[in-house]
Amino acid sequence: MKQFLKPSTQLSPLPAVIITACDKEGNSNLMTAAWTGIVNSTPPLCYVSIRPERFTYHMVKETMQFAINLTTTAIARATDLVGVIGGLKEDKWAKSGLTPTKASIVSCPLVEESPISLECVVREIMPLGSHDMFLAEIVAVAVNEEIINKETGRWELDSTSLLSYSHGEYFSQGDYLGHFGFSVKKKKD
Ligand SMILES: Cc1cc2nc3c(=O)[nH]c(=O)nc-3n(C[C@H](O)[C@H](O)[C@H](O)COP(=O)(O)O)c2cc1C
Repeated sequence: MKQFLKPSTQLSPLPAVIITACDKEGNSNLMTAAWTGIVNSTPPLCYVSIRPERFTYHMVKETMQFAINLTTTAIARATDLVGVIGGLKEDKWAKSGLTPTKASIVSCPLVEESPISLECVVREIMPLGSHDMFLAEIVAVAVNEEIINKETGRWELDSTSLLSYSHGEYFSQGDYLGHFGFSVKKKKD
């Protein structure tokens, strides 16, 4: 039996990422975001929805650039922290202990402790109501060398448990269940 509730944003799990951004003077900030995702493969397009009252919002609007930094259990506390305090009053880099590192194309920094960062250039801003959606092109991907297997070149993301966010709670990555297409793969005799 199902209970039918009023409409709300009950999609889950979502990633809990850290958005990094900077202004034209080079001052940078970081904030947590769960309203983010991929919307197209070629060209690689993504979005992040940010409330206009966030300090980060004005930086993204000013430079039309940002980065999406994936998060792990190792930085779970810092991920939550940069999502509950405001960069207008606090130096969130110092407070969180996260380290800014240079990106390859965008001017804002990436989070050194993040295993994968997506450098993004905004293509369109869509005011939707509570949030503005920044539709952006992923112009570069930065991967921490520690997660790349030197022999196979494979990204070993299982070595760095990625965070997800479900109904207000954070979770680490669960058990490995199979790879893309495993449901139709024929078993070898
Ligand atoms: C798990 C989590 C997810 C969040 N997702 C979003 C989001 O998608 N969009 C948004 O505008 N704020 C989101 N927030 C809130 C901002 O991260 C928070 O208001 C932050 O303090 C803004 O920082 P700033 O004012 O320095 O930009 C989220 C917070 C948390 C903890």
